[in-house]
Amino acid sequence: MDWQIFHYNKVTSTNDVALTQSRISDGKFVIVADTQTAGRGRRGRAWQSLEGNLFFSAGLPYPIQQCGALVMLCSLSLLQTIKSLCPTADVQLKWPNDVLLNGAKVSGMLLEKGEKNYMIVGIGVNISQCPNNMQLLYPTTSLTAAGIQTDCHTFLDLFLQIFDKNLAANDTSAIRQQWLENAKGLNKPVTVHQERGNIKGIFISIDENANLVLNTENGLQKIMVGDVFYG
Ligand code: BTN
Repeated sequence: MDWQIFHYNKVTSTNDVALTQSRISDGKFVIVADTQTAGRGRRGRAWQSLEGNLFFSAGLPYPIQQCGALVMLCSLSLLQTIKSLCPTADVQLKWPNDVLLNGAKVSGMLLEKGEKNYMIVGIGVNISQCPNNMQLLYPTTSLTAAGIQTDCHTFLDLFLQIFDKNLAANDTSAIRQQWLENAKGLNKPVTVHQERGNIKGIFISIDENANLVLNTENGLQKIMVGDVFYG
């Protein structure tokens, strides 16, 4: 594997450290930490960093115009990592980049632009603990709670191998196809919460940039940002 791995005990956010690292790196790197004091989630939310869970940021040169493909690649690779640990696991993808295990969130991802031509993919995986603060939008679970035995090191190593294989195949349309095959709620009604209000429609697809495609009462709409609720 050609990843340079930097391990820290405590950081503010692995994405912060990755951003700094991207100034001086020229290859792929991972920042992994035992704990974060200011873990960030999507849409300005905090990410609770409980002991025993996995927090890492992968930094790699990647065209920002294709960041949607990177989102699909990473979330699918996370799902495949869980499947490789437990082939019978009930895992699904939730737009844009959550992984659900038994219908509850087991991992989240925050994509940010790094320095130069770098993208930073920050990933949190609930290995042994479930965040339970009151601000959570969705139910959460952990691999341990679902009976899947692993540890942070094994999971990260497996994820990087699977991610590398998917990246090397360089086939966005196959990744998108597989993403859709594993998506929760395809062809069913969803409500997307956005800052300017809610949009209801039937979730019919995601496009090649990983935008959500909804069939609404006003016709087809592509959605770039939001939180999906099923039903
Ligand atoms: C979300 O679901 O809202 C995204 C959560 C992303 C959390 C990870 S933990 C590692 C990396 N560092 C952060 O501060 N955030 C991401």
